[in-house]
Amino acid sequence: SNSLPAKSPPIFEGTPFIGGIMKFIKGPMKLMHDGYMRSGEVFTVPVLHKNFTFLLGPHVSGHFFKANDDEMSQKEVYEFNVPTFGKGVVFDVDHKVRAEQFRFFAEALKSAKLKIYVPYFVQEAQDFFSKWGQEGTIDFAKTFSELIILTASRTLMGREVRESMFHQVADLFHDLDMGMLPISVLFPYLPIPAHWARDRARAELSRIFARIIQARRESKATEEDILQCFIDSRYEKVYGGRYLNDEEITGMLIATLFAGQHTSSITSAWTGLTMIRDKASFKAAVEEQRQVIAKHGHELSMEALNDMKVLERCMMEALRLFPPLIMLLRQAKAPFAVTTSQGKTYVIPKGHVVATSPAYSHRLPHVFSRPDEFDPERFAAPREEDKAAPFSFIGFGGGRHGCMGSNFAILQIKSIWSVLLRSFEFELVDTFPEPDFESMVVGPKPCRVHFRRRSQPL
Ligand code: HEM
Repeated sequence: SNSLPAKSPPIFEGTPFIGGIMKFIKGPMKLMHDGYMRSGEVFTVPVLHKNFTFLLGPHVSGHFFKANDDEMSQKEVYEFNVPTFGKGVVFDVDHKVRAEQFRFFAEALKSAKLKIYVPYFVQEAQDFFSKWGQEGTIDFAKTFSELIILTASRTLMGREVRESMFHQVADLFHDLDMGMLPISVLFPYLPIPAHWARDRARAELSRIFARIIQARRESKATEEDILQCFIDSRYEKVYGGRYLNDEEITGMLIATLFAGQHTSSITSAWTGLTMIRDKASFKAAVEEQRQVIAKHGHELSMEALNDMKVLERCMMEALRLFPPLIMLLRQAKAPFAVTTSQGKTYVIPKGHVVATSPAYSHRLPHVFSRPDEFDPERFAAPREEDKAAPFSFIGFGGGRHGCMGSNFAILQIKSIWSVLLRSFEFELVDTFPEPDFESMVVGPKPCRVHFRRRSQPL
């Protein structure tokens, strides 16, 4: 029916280079807003020598999520992670090796394994909050970041790190983190002190994990953690079917930690902040804890956590409003066509960097009604606004490269908030925070919260 020849997307900001880069520096949220207002769901912004084509909203983002790696590639756009993750893994290898390594991630994070990790989520949270006094003032983003590195070391890096070298390893991860600056995305090898510290930390982590892996191999001890999953992982179609070497195991661990650490602690923080602001949601979540206790007892088992639908919807709604990964990127390896909700068809040329945005798409009013309001019930039947069209809710990405740790994250966040809801009451001290769009993983700006221990825990 559409007989007109398809054309390239409209260019946003006529003057290439200066126009685009100025918009970029002012921040991607403003850029997307201005572009969307001018051109709608599909537009191209020239930045330096690259063309960024935005696909905003579920009508146009299907190809982004569904295409295979030969059509939509992650390697070029995420390659800046190589000095952090290390050589020989993830974005440093060709797609055949990467596909197998992603199979190892999937294996380590499958639900049979999650059942093993849940008691650790709960125990770490209980130990951590038992050290809080009767009342006090905290910042959630900081608090959860400390807690989640503890759980990560227990479930991911293993008993040895958690029990006897936690502070050393946490400091090394801190250096890796500080070595990931906005400038590092463009120039990951720029000779600056932050990158030198990153490289030293990365090398030291290799030495530490080589020792741990060696000791496990010699003692034949096996543990129930993600480190062990990677030690036991074996290639099938590449490298003659060998096991992962120590360097690859370390790289996979670091990649997992980077995927899960800030994303989970930030989402835990927003879940709390949004529930505390919206008192009805907080009350409903507390009431749900009472019901779950009545049904399952006080133990926070996987079954009990899976029964907490109110808490889960609060978390999902926090993730809809405040996704920590605000932009997802690919490189188009072949031209492809998209048709907008207005019926216009564009062909995106090969070579374009293609971007979609959880932060922007989640606020489109034709996808989520009253999108700026915190309304967890929008996820409940019969509304289920997230399911009206595929890729409406993309806080965990979706399709071919959707988050492999989403269930791990959901169980961890629910464990933390169950422990908190049962023992504490909260009040915001500062006004509700804005997202800090200047950081790589976007979390709340500092916001003090007052906690008070319940006289009677639930
Ligand atoms: C991928 C979000 C927690 C492991 C992704 C993607 C998003 C995301 C948006 C897709 C990236 C893209 O398409 O370019 C989140 C959020 C989390 C979270 C919001 C917490 C609330 C975790 C955790 C782990 C994890 C805890 C591991 C323990 C992964 C992996 C991928 C991924 C391995 C890559 C999948 C692939 O490329 O095929 N995550 N994530 N994530 N995530 Fe998560």
